[in-house]
Amino acid sequence: MASESVVIDYQPTPKQTLFHATDANEVLYGGAAGGGKSKAIVMDALARCLRYPQTHAYIFRRTYSELEDTVIKEAKQSYPKSIAQYNVSRHEMKLYNGSVIHFRHCASVSSMYNYAGAEIHWLYFDELTSFEREIYDFIKTRLRAKKTLGIVPVVRSSSNPGNIGHGWVKERFVDAGPYLEKIVRMEKSPTLHRSKKFVTQYIPSLALENPYITEDYIFELERKPKALREALLNGNWDAFEGQVFPEFTDDAQHYADRTHTHVVAPFDIPLWWPRYMGFDHGYSAPFSVGWYACDPQGRLYRYREWYGFDGTPNKGIRITPKEIARGILDREKDESNENLSIERIADPAIFDQSRGDSVADQMRDTGDGRGVYFRRGDHTRLAGKMQIHERLRFREDDRPMFYVFSTCRQFLRTFPALPYDPVKPEDVDSAAEDHIYDECRYVCMARPIASEGMPTHKRAEYDPLEE
Ligand SMILES: Nc1ncnc2c1ncn2[C@@H]1O[C@H](COP(=O)(O)OP(=O)(O)O)[C@@H](O)[C@H]1O
Ligand SMILES: [Mg+2]
Repeated sequence: MASESVVIDYQPTPKQTLFHATDANEVLYGGAAGGGKSKAIVMDALARCLRYPQTHAYIFRRTYSELEDTVIKEAKQSYPKSIAQYNVSRHEMKLYNGSVIHFRHCASVSSMYNYAGAEIHWLYFDELTSFEREIYDFIKTRLRAKKTLGIVPVVRSSSNPGNIGHGWVKERFVDAGPYLEKIVRMEKSPTLHRSKKFVTQYIPSLALENPYITEDYIFELERKPKALREALLNGNWDAFEGQVFPEFTDDAQHYADRTHTHVVAPFDIPLWWPRYMGFDHGYSAPFSVGWYACDPQGRLYRYREWYGFDGTPNKGIRITPKEIARGILDREKDESNENLSIERIADPAIFDQSRGDSVADQMRDTGDGRGVYFRRGDHTRLAGKMQIHERLRFREDDRPMFYVFSTCRQFLRTFPALPYDPVKPEDVDSAAEDHIYDECRYVCMARPIASEGMPTHKRAEYDPLEE
């Protein structure tokens, strides 16, 4: 049979070459944006699947639209049609030799079980920090190959710093040892009573290493907020060091379409959306008032704020509870003109009467016939923090469940910088400027959303007309 030769147009950069050649079990090609990481993943999968017929590669991204816009697009452009056919409904590239490259998404911990039956030979995660560690660990257990195939399955990932998985990805790859070096680890099997050696490796990427990206792209990265710029341009994993919410994204390019960002341009809120107000009291420290609206999908929008600070971080303006109450009502002209009710939630500490009239008592009567009434917020710290993480997570439509208007300057100054508590390492440091965070937490706890990570119990549908 006459064989035709096919030319694959790909000149890997030196880092991409390293990524393809290494024999480590698990590799992270990480750091800056634009370094050619997604391209390397797409070409690596093709090379392995061509070399070993009848093998299966899986390329994961968090959401389907990301998959379409990045790796699927890249694969369609780079794979010669004579050897790879794309099946649109199955999201798969079928190669002429029986190998298949599967493009898959996994937007939540609960959907990882969709892959319980998969047999994966070459496993790829593009943008690994957008995945929880549970997802990575679980899907990795699907890595297996019949002895007859004669292959050693591998895991290859790429990622920018930041996002929900920042902490575990940094620990597993970036901080594991010197860059580029192969790090030998032991994995224990309690069932087999023995340990297995496995090797990880971190290959750092820099935007400037990729001769194929344009200067415009670099200019664009330079305009991002500081931590994001450091991460995306220089691949600096320390830019988010100690940040409790590295997944918080403020991307002005998406203020209008509201995808991949938590900050949006202000808009007129429909009158029928429920309104909430969160309050954290302070006198010598700042107090914080945040106004929120909730859309029909349950998404919260922080649309207005009043932060009682004197311009010096964490310094209050020393006004009385009555003055704060008046200030609140003065700022609610729009709502009161429309007769909208606002559900007010506050730190339970304001109901403390051990020193006479509580702060809540004082705010009920402003002295001019008006008053502000609160209900007690739930201040359970870790549950509240989890609610915020859950709301910040980008869903399959690339939108989160929590947004903040770009006009809420003090939220944007304090929230992304919140550090961990040095003594209780999983909680926010309460010595930090956390008043806005606290007030936001009370509101989120007043409208809790189910964590997608929790197993869902489907009930049989109840039909009242059926007996
Ligand atoms: N070796 C290469 N040959 C040709 N184009 C490349 C190569 N590596 C990367 N590119 C191109 O550079 C751009 C950025 O690469 P990409 O893989 O998306 O970067 P990253 O995933 O690191 O952000 C893409 O348009 C990609 O097609
Ligand atoms: Mg990429």
